[in-house]
Amino acid sequence: MDVRVCAAEDLARLRAQWPTPGSDVHGAHVAAQQRGSASYLVAWRGPMPLGSAMVNWDGCVGANARSTYPGCVEIHHLQVRSEQRGRGVGAELITVAEELIRSRGHTRACLGVAAENPGAARLYRRLGYRPTGVRDLTAYTWIDEDGVAHDEIEDDELLVKCLDAQRPAGLSAWRAALPDP
Ligand SMILES: CC(C)(COP(=O)(O)OP(=O)(O)OC[C@H]1O[C@@H](n2cnc3c(N)ncnc32)[C@H](O)[C@@H]1OP(=O)(O)O)[C@@H](O)C(=O)NCCC(=O)NCCS
Repeated sequence: MDVRVCAAEDLARLRAQWPTPGSDVHGAHVAAQQRGSASYLVAWRGPMPLGSAMVNWDGCVGANARSTYPGCVEIHHLQVRSEQRGRGVGAELITVAEELIRSRGHTRACLGVAAENPGAARLYRRLGYRPTGVRDLTAYTWIDEDGVAHDEIEDDELLVKCLDAQRPAGLSAWRAALPDP
């Protein structure tokens, strides 16, 4: 699996291999990347796109999250194609997003997750993201198995990870690694 920032020359292949009828989701994400407000990461196996995620350089998407955690970079629009789920693609997208965030000198990454998505929340917790109690209504687009894009609004809780913290060695280290607002 290769996870990389979507290059202009990847866009045609992405649209052909992972079409999103009714809404050019990939094009919109690449346009945001060209404006400098985000990086669009795509996971590939050979010519086949497996999933994708946006890294939002403008900070958190939700207003409550932004004001509580200014300077926190949000990983957003994380999606793995349905037939590819449960094989580590989502975890790898998040790991590469964190490397990118660290490489630009940021020390905190965050994700929003809805109460109705306990599987995703479990994955994020396993990767070191901690609940904050900060909630926002978040608009996002997801692509169903027929490639149709759906616009949704969900009530997300912000989960935060300190990227410079080492893996906790004990309870005090674990406490020290908790994100302060
Ligand atoms: C959530 C999502 C990105 C995870 O990607 P993934 O490649 O399936 O995840 P990984 O293989 O790296 O990790 C597996 C874990 O993902 C979580 N998961 C969430 N939804 C899952 C699904 N439909 N199938 C498999 N795993 C899923 C589980 O916690 C699983 O761990 P478990 O074995 O302990 O149950 C992916 O399932 C997805 O695209 N879901 C639909 C869109 C979505 O909910 N996006 C996140 C918005 S916050």
